[in-house]
Amino acid sequence: MTIILGLESSCDETAAALVTDDGRILAHKLATQEAQHRPYGGVVPEIAARAHAEALMPLVDGALHEAGLTLNDVDAIAATAGPGLIGGVMVGLVTGKALAHAAGKPLIAVNHLEGHALSPRLADQSLQFPYMLLLVSGGHCQILRVDGVGQYRRLATTIDDAAGEAFDKTAKLLGLGYPGGPLVEQAALAGNAKAVPLPRPLVGTADPHFSFAGLKSAVMRAYQSGQYSVEDIAASFTQAVVDCLIDRTKRALEGNPGVTALVVAGGVAANGAVRDALTQLAASHDLPFVAPPLWLCTDNGAMIAWAGAERFRLGMTDPMDVAARPRWPLDPTAEKARGAGVKA
Ligand code: KG4
Ligand code: ZN
Repeated sequence: MTIILGLESSCDETAAALVTDDGRILAHKLATQEAQHRPYGGVVPEIAARAHAEALMPLVDGALHEAGLTLNDVDAIAATAGPGLIGGVMVGLVTGKALAHAAGKPLIAVNHLEGHALSPRLADQSLQFPYMLLLVSGGHCQILRVDGVGQYRRLATTIDDAAGEAFDKTAKLLGLGYPGGPLVEQAALAGNAKAVPLPRPLVGTADPHFSFAGLKSAVMRAYQSGQYSVEDIAASFTQAVVDCLIDRTKRALEGNPGVTALVVAGGVAANGAVRDALTQLAASHDLPFVAPPLWLCTDNGAMIAWAGAERFRLGMTDPMDVAARPRWPLDPTAEKARGAGVKA
């Protein structure tokens, strides 16, 4: 049995966790910077980096204390090395290097997206490769076929905004506040999903890519028309996003027979309507649906520790001069989606 310490600091969550290679979570600690970013309506990179620098070591100590362990009991140290806001990524990676150096332990540089992609295997130890992954977060909206550790085939990505970004922008527009996803979900519960006619961008196209910019503009027009309640817009917007996610994922499943399961990860997977629709989609393809528990869907340290455990098992460790990367695609062979912007 090996124990991995995982560090996460790529966006606005600072986290540390201790996970074993047989899938036990010995401790997980998390500090969110929500309150610090709220006045700005989004994550401010400079504020984020400083907050990570303050929060990370106390979280590491807290996790070790909770598990009743010292750094000497840990077999390897895994840290997010990208993609993400580079100041924060550097804080986490350099902390990981310092701890690894001080304790004489191997370092594992983890791709944050790989953390999300493998987290369902921490939640469900029976999940086998290859599986179909819908990764929907604030920075990413991708469909990946997960063939093995480090083996990812990106089947689709967004050509503009990520799904979580669309939720956040819609929340801002509707005056609901930050962070947007949970607030839109709450408002949508009191609304009528059929009240506002909204587009379903790219639905029906051959490639399973995503686009949400047009939907966002339509939401703005609906809001400015003064014809609809905030709740009806939130519900109709959510339904439009769900329809896009389902149509695109369905297309990916049809083109890739032989996957063992449909899996969802990333912060948007916390959304009940998204989960319900994916559950039905999986059932209609006779596939099990695997969703990590909510706290494992959003950014956390356990998914980084677990990705570290999966890599460590295969002897994949990294040198001390490994670089922090603001962009780091999981599938380097994937072509840019037509019309894609600069997102990683
Ligand atoms: O994976 P995550 O914690 O961070 C990264 O982006 O990597 O995802 C955060 C995103 C945010 O855009 C947030 O609005 C969205 O996930 N989100 C939700 C919900 N909870 C979080 N979106 C819709 N419904 C939710 N309940
Ligand atoms: Zn994330």
